[in-house]
Amino acid sequence: MDGIKISLRDSSDGEVIARDWRTNELVRIVWSKGVISSREAGVVGAPDGLWLLPPLIDIQVNGFAGVDFQDPSVTEAEMEKAVAGLKSSACGGCLVTLVTDDWTSLLGKLKQLVALRAENAALREFILGWHLEGPFLSSEEGYRGAHSGEFMIDPHSGHLDAVQAIVGMEPLLMTVAPERRGAIETICEGCCRGIRFSLGHSAAGPPTVAEAIGAGATGITHLGNGCPQMWDRHNNWFWTVVDCKGLYVGLIPDSIHLPAPVFRGMHRALAGRHQVYYTTDAISAAGAPPGRHGFWPHWLEVGGDQVVRQPGRSNFSGSALCPLEGVLRAARMLGEDWQQAWSRFSEVPARHVGMDLNLTVGVPARFCLVRSGPRNEVKEVTLQYSRLWPQTDHQLFLRVVRPRHLRWRPRRTREQKREIGQRNNLEFLCQYEQLWYA
Ligand SMILES: [Fe+2]
Repeated sequence: MDGIKISLRDSSDGEVIARDWRTNELVRIVWSKGVISSREAGVVGAPDGLWLLPPLIDIQVNGFAGVDFQDPSVTEAEMEKAVAGLKSSACGGCLVTLVTDDWTSLLGKLKQLVALRAENAALREFILGWHLEGPFLSSEEGYRGAHSGEFMIDPHSGHLDAVQAIVGMEPLLMTVAPERRGAIETICEGCCRGIRFSLGHSAAGPPTVAEAIGAGATGITHLGNGCPQMWDRHNNWFWTVVDCKGLYVGLIPDSIHLPAPVFRGMHRALAGRHQVYYTTDAISAAGAPPGRHGFWPHWLEVGGDQVVRQPGRSNFSGSALCPLEGVLRAARMLGEDWQQAWSRFSEVPARHVGMDLNLTVGVPARFCLVRSGPRNEVKEVTLQYSRLWPQTDHQLFLRVVRPRHLRWRPRRTREQKREIGQRNNLEFLCQYEQLWYA
């Protein structure tokens, strides 16, 4: 990001005229006490190349700026440092992510992070919710990636009780492998409770994936990663996902996890079927200089090329990518305008976790202003991040939307789930399922 000026502005009152990134028309936004008080379209007088966009949202952050969220001894000051680092990359909110660990220790770490967030207004406003990536994943070598196979367990409703006893009704995303015993029932029950489910680190075949989608799973976690180097050429996770429809599919746009030709190919394969979103899957090395970085309980070496590996292993362990850099790399790999890539790192992941980033009257004045040059190259990025008065939490920052499929519903039979799968345009998978079970 050499040559790009990045700044943070937290004025509680102000006004700006800029070009709406979606409609391309000039709009005037006025905010007072941190909340947008008016939005007017069709105005004149904006300087050329000043764009108004929602902030970037990262729904899978394991650590940042030298701070490891997996470390049970992480402090409030360290969390503030990580948040400041993310803000300096145009990021306006994240889901703090905890990866596979012994279940009791994982709950302990979650409890500690929830307590830190509850006591600190800056953390409350920035941390939008939680993402548990494990321990309900495949323990098979390759599929488990860098996760510890020894801690993998089958999910059940008691696990949901335990997590919700800690996070309450705060946004919660869980990545699960649907082939684990009890996973479909847990997804079904979790969705009724308002939890979002994403499928990943999984060796499941099409029938099981269809069942998981029918049960309410809405996403795929970092497609192209958390999978073996060698696959069956036909029966593999990638084709299973491509064959489904209507999911939020996460990609890591660092050009390392997915080289440019693969990244482009995935967009082409997923276009029109799924909504692609981006995430950094960042560990503490992101936004920090190269060197030795913690990914508790391991140490990882990160070189100048930003590749993050466990010593002695070939698979990647998270990334050292910053959100803004992710947008720019994605646009470069796809040969498209950065405005298009921006959407996949802001409103799309926000929608995946049930949030709405529309900059309308009554929502907090948190947005990005991007100044671009004559060739639409990014010159300057400002994150306007108004502190709210009185202090409140993210509920005001993002209007939490509860989509239809997450409203309460009774327990479903296998036949009912199959019907839902069909309604979700999964006819092929359901036919496949019939063949599978025949
Ligand atoms: Fe992962």
